[in-house]
This record gives sequence, structure tokens and C-alpha cells, in this order.
Amino acid sequence: MSRFGPDPLAFFDEVYRETPPWDVGGPQPAMSELFAAHPPAGPVLDVGCGSGDLAVSLARDGLRVLGVDFVDAAVRQAREKAGALPPEAARLLEFQVADALRPSLLGRRFASVVDSGFFHLFDPDTCGRFVDDLAVALLPGGRYYLLAFATEFAIPHSPRSIGEDELRERFTADKGWRIRELRPAVFQSRVAPVPATAACMERL
Ligand SMILES: C[S@@+](CC[C@H](N)C(=O)[O-])C[C@H]1O[C@@H](n2cnc3c(N)ncnc32)[C@H](O)[C@@H]1O
Repeated sequence: MSRFGPDPLAFFDEVYRETPPWDVGGPQPAMSELFAAHPPAGPVLDVGCGSGDLAVSLARDGLRVLGVDFVDAAVRQAREKAGALPPEAARLLEFQVADALRPSLLGRRFASVVDSGFFHLFDPDTCGRFVDDLAVALLPGGRYYLLAFATEFAIPHSPRSIGEDELRERFTADKGWRIRELRPAVFQSRVAPVPATAACMERL
């Protein structure tokens, strides 16, 4: 069973009935810092894009972005934000309701995949399959940007801790990855800031 019960979609649907704790009104500052140090190229895929703030900020920077989330309400909010942008940024944005665990099934390849709070939702085996699929969806030299909790909460339905050791074991040179950056960070939330891991991995 998933960390979010037998029906994770029903769980996240319910959370989006109000403003979710991760919806801080803009992109996570730690993601913006990663982008400043390792500028992303387009096209970009935003996995688990939520209400779209990260995708919107990348489109404002001139990048073409596809945001994917499995919650209808989240994608509706993201599309509304896109609709309020100047046309030159709005035309760079697309949002889809889909399962973001299989980016290769989207039928396109990406220069960057951005992940703000998606990877840490899944158990280690699911994360392993996701990383294998990412390798297919990313273009050669493409980058995966990750921000995940680095602490475990003793409450049900919460993300797991993603430590630097796990990422070093998963993103190895023999699997075609190079780690460009891996460091402690902070994940902002409406409740309290959470210790996090920020990383940028590149396909060789
Ligand atoms: C912690 S939230 C982060 C949202 C957004 N990236 C942000 O930083 O505000 C995780 C998001 O992943 C979405 N999600 C969870 N499992 C998913 C799946 N299998 N496919 C697509 N989206 C999923 C949830 O609906 C939620 O919007």
C-alpha cells in the first residue's frame, strides 16, 4: 500500500479541497537556488506540478514547460494561473492530468525534469522504477532537479526522508548519471519549514 493509503488519488483530491500545506504561493526558494546555480533548459517537465507555481515561474523565464499532476483541481488552478500570464509566457505552458510516475509514457523527451516534493511521496521500489523511467524521458545531457524532505514525521500520510546517501546510490555513473549538486536545503510549507535535500542530477 502507498504511504497515502489504498487510494492516493482520493487522498490528494481531498487535500486540494483547501489550500495544501505545500502551496506557499510561489516556487520553493530552494528550487530557485538550484536553477540559479544550474540553469535548466527547455522543454521542462514538472512532475507533480500541483497548482503550477514552479511551472509558471519557469515559463516566465522563457522555458517551455509541461506540468503533470493527477489531481484535476490542482491542474485547473495551474491552468487558471497560466491564463492570467502575459501571452508570451502563457503559450509556453501546458498542464495535463496524468500519472507523473511514468514520464516516458508522455511520448516526448525533456531537457529538464523538475521535482518539488514528488519523489519523497513514494516507497523506495517505486522511486527506483521512477528513476529508470526518468532516464528514458530525459534527453542526453538532460537534468533532474529534486527537492525532497530530509526528515520523517511520525504521522501517517506523510512523505519519507530522502537522504544524500540514497541519492548517491541511485544516481550512479554506471546507470548514466552525474550528480552536479547535492546538499541540505529547506522545504517551505504553510505549517513550518522542513529540513530537505536539494539535488541536481545530469544524464551523461
Ligand atoms: C507535495 S505536492 C507538491 C506540489 C508542487 N510540486 C509544489 O511544489 O507545490 C505533491 C504533488 O504530487 C501530486 N501527485 C502525487 N502522486 C502523483 C502521481 N502519481 N502522478 C501525478 N501527480 C501526483 C499531488 O497531487 C501533489 O500535487
